[in-house]
Amino acid sequence: MRNHVNVGVVGCGYWGPNLIRNYKSLSDCRVRAMCDINPQRLKHLKGLYPDVQGHLDYEEMLKDDDLQAVVIATSVAQHYSMARKCLESGKHVFIEKPMARSVQECRDLIELARSKDLVLMVGHTFLYSSPVRKIKDIVDAGDLGDIRYISSRRLNLGLFQKDINVAWDLAPHDISIILYIMEEFPHSVNCRGNANVTEGIEDVVSMTLTFRKKQFAIIQNSWLDPRKVREMTIVGSKRMIVYDDVQPLEKIKIYDVRVETPPHYDTFAEFHYSYHYGDSYIPFIKQEEPLKVECQHFLDCIINGTEPISNGVQGMELVRILEASSLSLKNWGASVDLCPTPGITPVTTGGNGQPSKQRLVTV
Ligand SMILES: NC(=O)c1ccc[n+]([C@@H]2O[C@H](COP(=O)([O-])OP(=O)(O)OC[C@H]3O[C@@H](n4cnc5c(N)ncnc54)[C@H](O)[C@@H]3O)[C@@H](O)[C@H]2O)c1
Repeated sequence: MRNHVNVGVVGCGYWGPNLIRNYKSLSDCRVRAMCDINPQRLKHLKGLYPDVQGHLDYEEMLKDDDLQAVVIATSVAQHYSMARKCLESGKHVFIEKPMARSVQECRDLIELARSKDLVLMVGHTFLYSSPVRKIKDIVDAGDLGDIRYISSRRLNLGLFQKDINVAWDLAPHDISIILYIMEEFPHSVNCRGNANVTEGIEDVVSMTLTFRKKQFAIIQNSWLDPRKVREMTIVGSKRMIVYDDVQPLEKIKIYDVRVETPPHYDTFAEFHYSYHYGDSYIPFIKQEEPLKVECQHFLDCIINGTEPISNGVQGMELVRILEASSLSLKNWGASVDLCPTPGITPVTTGGNGQPSKQRLVTV
């Protein structure tokens, strides 16, 4: 029996080489092939990894019976057709975020992977990062109390994408972390934004996910900001956390602060908010590359026949939120109701050129 997994990587642009580097560093993996339709990119990668077969056509790569798994790091428009061909060829598949262009495409891939008993994993990288896992432990231990709201900002100058807006590009990170912390699917999405540079492709958006019990998460994404910001604030009834992913070491700070209102008062003069200012502290966080942990998880799932943490269903639910955000954008920020149960008919209204107060429903 083989004690390693033979992997091929499709897409050697900005992100693909990070995946190749990480898979190459893992002892139970052999990066057997890499592919890019751009000969310059392939030549560059061949220079770095002469031992890895290079292909210009990924379908050629799939003819290799010894190749067990394919990692897809191309633009989202190609994820579905490529993943489908890979699964049909009997290969386990890892797809970069976002999983595909629509819930329907995601559902089709999930069914195909299940029918062939193959692993289908999506690159929700932050679920494999130590700071995010630390935050989850703190929240689960009840140290924050009840979560009141989460605010997440992911801003930078670029990198502009040609085929997807900034929400589809950056929000998968924010959304995957928020869903992981909340352990709950939002019931509605509102999204507003503007296409300032490329017509039809929003480069700045503000999205709100609303949960039961009136909790909500605000996500701000931009390719038009002078600073690189990767910051999330989780506000609890007892304590608050600020997670700054740009910091090299001290990424999480826990603030022992809260505001309380007196349970009973008779007159306005008696009413006082009570501000609690306690210590703030920075917990120890293990230094490890999230991508490496994620790559190892994909291999472990293949070797042990287990379901990935970020499986196809997780990828699909995230795409459902992105689809809803696009619908809301088209309707000037109207609220879009999410129905995570498959098979519910969509109801699409609004779009009269005015801000809509109607609720839209997505499948
Ligand atoms: N997990 C993360 O943190 C993270 C970070 C960045 C990007 N990504 C994701 O990675 C994916 C790729 O993003 P990118 O920024 O590297 O894009 P990119 O445009 O820089 O690279 C894509 C590469 O795919 C190649 N390609 C296109 N069509 C192909 C085909 N038919 N066959 C083979 N190669 C083909 C292109 O030539 C290009 O080199 C996207 O899904 C993106 O969202 C994830």
